[in-house]
Amino acid sequence: MTQFPQAFPGTRMRRLRQAPWARSLVSENVLTPADLVWAVFVHDGEGRVPVASLPGVDRLSVAEAALAAKRAKALGIPAIALFPYIGPEGKDADGSGALSPGGLVPRALKAMKDAAPEVGLITDVALDAYTSHGHDGLLDEDGSIPNDATVERLVEQALVHVGAGADVVAPSDMMDGRIGAIRYAFEEEGFTNAMILSYAAKYASGFYGPYREAIGSAAALKGDKKTYQQDPANSDEALREVALDLAEGADMVMVKPGLPYLDVVQRVSSTFGVPTLAYQVSGEYAQIMAAAQNGWIDGDRVMMETLTCFKRAGAAGVITYFAERAAEKLG
Ligand code: PBG
Repeated sequence: MTQFPQAFPGTRMRRLRQAPWARSLVSENVLTPADLVWAVFVHDGEGRVPVASLPGVDRLSVAEAALAAKRAKALGIPAIALFPYIGPEGKDADGSGALSPGGLVPRALKAMKDAAPEVGLITDVALDAYTSHGHDGLLDEDGSIPNDATVERLVEQALVHVGAGADVVAPSDMMDGRIGAIRYAFEEEGFTNAMILSYAAKYASGFYGPYREAIGSAAALKGDKKTYQQDPANSDEALREVALDLAEGADMVMVKPGLPYLDVVQRVSSTFGVPTLAYQVSGEYAQIMAAAQNGWIDGDRVMMETLTCFKRAGAAGVITYFAERAAEKLG
C-alpha cells in the first residue's frame, strides 16, 4: 500500500489545481494521437455510406480507405484497425469469404499500404462478417461452435491478411488455442515479423450492437456468443486468458469492451507488464454521440475524458471510432 505523509495544517490539495500551468506540470497521464488506433469499416461499393447507429462513422470504399490511411499519417495516428462490411450475398455457413485472397480486406490492405506505408494495419481475425449465422466460428448442426475446426480457418484467414500486407492480425473470435496456431503458421510460412494483437479478454457484451449493424451481421446472428466470449462478471478468468495468449505468442493483448472493463485493463497491464490495448467499442461510442446529440453532454469533452481514462488505467493504446476526431483536437 502507498504510504501517505500525515496531514498537517496547511495541506491544501487545491493549490496545484489553481492554474493551467500547474495542472499540466503535475498531470500523471497525457493522451496523444500516438495512443490511438482508428477503427474503420470498409465496404465493396463506392464512396462513403453512413452507419445509422454510429453517427459520424461511415463505411468506406477501398479508395476512401486509402485516403483514410493518408489522413491517419497526417494526424499522427499510428495504426488503423479494419473491419469489413459484407453483404448477404457474400456470406455463407462456413464464412468462406474470409479466406479469399482477392477479398475486400486484402484489397483494402493493399490500397492502404500503397497510400501510406508508414501506417500500421491491423485486421480482425474472426468469421462473423462472413457467416450467414453471424458467429465468429463455424456452426455445427446442434448449434455449437466447434473450436478446433474454427481455428484451422482462422489460421488461413490470418495468413491471407499478412500475405496482403497486414502488419498485425487481431483474432477477436475467442477460440481456444488460436494464438498458438496462428503464431506457428506464421513461423512456418516465414511471416516472422507479423504481429499478433490478441483480443485476449473479450466479453459477451451488449455494447457491440451498433458494430453488428455496421458489418451487416446484426440481422444474421443466431443466438448469442456466450459459449466463447467471457462472462462480464469475471476478471480472474481474464488473467488466465491473457496468460495463455502470451504463452502462445501474442505480442500485445486487448481488453474489450473498454470503459466498463477498466478494472480489467488495469489488472492485465499491471499483472503482466505487456502492451495492453483497450477497445472503446461501438456501443460506448454510440452512447456518447447520442447523449451529445441530445445536448445532454458535451461530446468532445467526454470523448477526451474517456480516452484519457484508458491511459490512466494502464492502456498502451485505445482502439476507437473517435480516433480521427480526437487526433484533430489534439493536433
Ligand atoms: C467480431 C468483433 C466484434 C467487434 C469487433 N470484432 C463483435 C462481436 O464480437 O460480436 C465489436 C466491436 C465494436 O462493437 O465496436 N469478431
